[in-house]
Amino acid sequence: MKILRLGSVREVGRFEDYLVSSRLTIPCDLELLRGSESPLSWPIERNGLKIGNRIAIQPMEGWDGTADGIPTANTIRRWQRFGRSGAKLIWGGEAVAVRHDARANPNQLVAGPHTRNGLARLREALIDEHRRTVGSVDGLLVGLQLTHSGRYSRPNAKDRPEPRILYRHPILDHRLGLPDDYPLLTDGEIREIIEDFHRAARMARELGFDFADIKHCHGYLGHEFLSAHTREGDYGGSFENRTRFLREVVEGIRAATPGLRIGVRLSAFDTIPFLPDPARSEPGKLGPGIAEYFEKLIPYRWGFGVNPQNPTKADLGEPVQFLALLEELDIRLVNITAGSPYYNPHIQRPAFYPPSDGYQSPEDPLFGVARQLEATRCLKAKFPHLIIVGSAYSYLQDFLPHVAQATIRQGWVDAVGLGRMVLTYPEFLSDVVEGRAVQHKRICRTFSDCTTAPRNGLPSGCYPLDKHYKDSADGDRLREIRTESSRRKAEGRGE
Ligand SMILES: Cc1cc2nc3c(=O)[nH]c(=O)nc-3n(C[C@H](O)[C@H](O)[C@H](O)COP(=O)(O)O)c2cc1C
Ligand code: SF4
Repeated sequence: MKILRLGSVREVGRFEDYLVSSRLTIPCDLELLRGSESPLSWPIERNGLKIGNRIAIQPMEGWDGTADGIPTANTIRRWQRFGRSGAKLIWGGEAVAVRHDARANPNQLVAGPHTRNGLARLREALIDEHRRTVGSVDGLLVGLQLTHSGRYSRPNAKDRPEPRILYRHPILDHRLGLPDDYPLLTDGEIREIIEDFHRAARMARELGFDFADIKHCHGYLGHEFLSAHTREGDYGGSFENRTRFLREVVEGIRAATPGLRIGVRLSAFDTIPFLPDPARSEPGKLGPGIAEYFEKLIPYRWGFGVNPQNPTKADLGEPVQFLALLEELDIRLVNITAGSPYYNPHIQRPAFYPPSDGYQSPEDPLFGVARQLEATRCLKAKFPHLIIVGSAYSYLQDFLPHVAQATIRQGWVDAVGLGRMVLTYPEFLSDVVEGRAVQHKRICRTFSDCTTAPRNGLPSGCYPLDKHYKDSADGDRLREIRTESSRRKAEGRGE
């Protein structure tokens, strides 16, 4: 398989040639525009909303809150960097659990009375830094992402998963070691969780956040509802039942917290869970990803946005229905992502180096970028009135600005969302727009340490490129983990 090492490509022309020869449909502008001529600086004014430019910061969880979910100095630093990026749309900051047992890790933030001041400080720190570095907070929109981690709940200890599931999944239950009689969330428990979302959204509003994102992506609870075809009762089966959770969350927020805008981050398509190919894996070395065996599971009834006859292929039929529902519910802010970091990371965050619990990319990661761009383009074309944010741009590295400019200019998306790139180089796009020199050494090279570190119980951060992490005790610990892993590899003992 041919993979272009983007770090070694200097010329945008060569990058474009590769796109053409590989039949990759990724728009790319050869010349970058500056100042008000740059599409990235165009404001959005729609549906009574004003967003100062087309740069968005994606939610990025840090695994660095206290044991009871209060932000720490590291969390505040990350939000300040979000503010400094120059982006005018802050999509949620990071996933904040609506209750303690809804956390995906024992250091995830929680929305509760005891975290109120901490969450308020995060928002203020971001806004202050934005004002200080950008000069004005005009057109700045800051949301809070609200979540329940569902199947991936791990609220109390890094080595103690406490999954809350909606239905039995023929592949994922096995991966998580769940017995056949593992309890499903009851309809009554779901209603309690919905009330937690109402409470958390009210708090977000009181703290001054402009919107709450009701997270529906990456395999967490909101996303799992959408694929609950096999669940019985009020919240599974038909499309209407699978979206009841969303509708009831929205209804309660509208009743109790009028004035708070609502957004939804959606995994618009998924695929079968992947694993490292056992035939091509060696002790300590992950093989390339392959889809789990699924021939006996056709028609596939455990996915959303997948073709039931071939669940490795996307089918945007239901995602289109879902966006129509959002429009009907007067939800105008939509953020398109895909897949899950747990069972198909190459779909969700294309990377050259896999995280420690992943697999080698089965394709040139540019295909992963193209897949998300294309799905977003299709949805944007059908829903011109929604404000749609696109994801998975960081893998583009030096050519991110060229692609970002082209996607905005050609109307593929309304705002370009930055994830991993923000951990290394928050000001990348604003440096380009303002005509400042690009700092190539700060560009994210998708080493995946920001995912590997938390998988090993350490806070997330860019260990290779951000001195704050590189030179910290956690950086030493991550290096020790790597040395131990290489030693095992040399001894042929595996991980
Ligand atoms: C360390 C890390 C933490 C993340 N945390 C969240 C999160 O809290 N909520 C969310 O919706 N996505 C989260 N994501 C996914 C990113 O928002 C984004 O979709 C993904 O990294 C792909 O975009 P990129 O190519 O710009 O990195 C996280 C990703 C990483 C690497
Ligand atoms: S660790 Fe740094 S360079 Fe690597 S993927 Fe994360 S942000 Fe990018």
